[in-house]
Amino acid sequence: MKGTELETMAEYRWKAAVVILSDKGYAGEREDKSGPLICGMLAEAGYDVRETILLPDEIEEIKKYLCKLCDSDRMDIVFTTGGTGFAPRDCTPEATMAVAERNVPGIAEAMRLASLKITPRAMLSRGVSVIRGSTLIINLPGSPKAAKENLEAVLPSLDHGLAILTGRDGECAR
Ligand code: MTE
Repeated sequence: MKGTELETMAEYRWKAAVVILSDKGYAGEREDKSGPLICGMLAEAGYDVRETILLPDEIEEIKKYLCKLCDSDRMDIVFTTGGTGFAPRDCTPEATMAVAERNVPGIAEAMRLASLKITPRAMLSRGVSVIRGSTLIINLPGSPKAAKENLEAVLPSLDHGLAILTGRDGECAR
């Protein structure tokens, strides 16, 4: 590989979007603290956070927006936060599964495994992780504490998966 190609790969920053799902946040009844926290963690890890949006827990709206981020905006990775629990209007996993093309259970499993060491309530997040086209979508729970703990559990391993997914790296044997 030529030096210039290596440089380009080293300089590339994953294009990321953060979608905050909260009826209360959308209605202005609760300040969203998870969005800025996730964006800060991603920026620190070198991600190029291009978009953050706050949406209500409306399945059709969430599906439409996830499709836009994957298909038109061509994000490398989309994080959602919130709507993964048992509340009647929580529908983030259903919206995510509806737009999924391939399941990536290991990421959600790793988040729950790490989180269960912190709180037994980690089992109450129904979050999923999937691929649509060449975009990885990961559901995080909604509270700032839970979002941070879940993201910390998987962030170091995402780079390699994204490199394979987007064709920037064909090698797994490292
Ligand atoms: N995971 C971690 N690491 N830390 C937490 O505090 N809270 C749990 C769970 N996952 C939690 C966690 C709780 S109490 C709930 S109800 C679910 O995430 C779902 O959260 P959500 O409905 O805000 O998405």
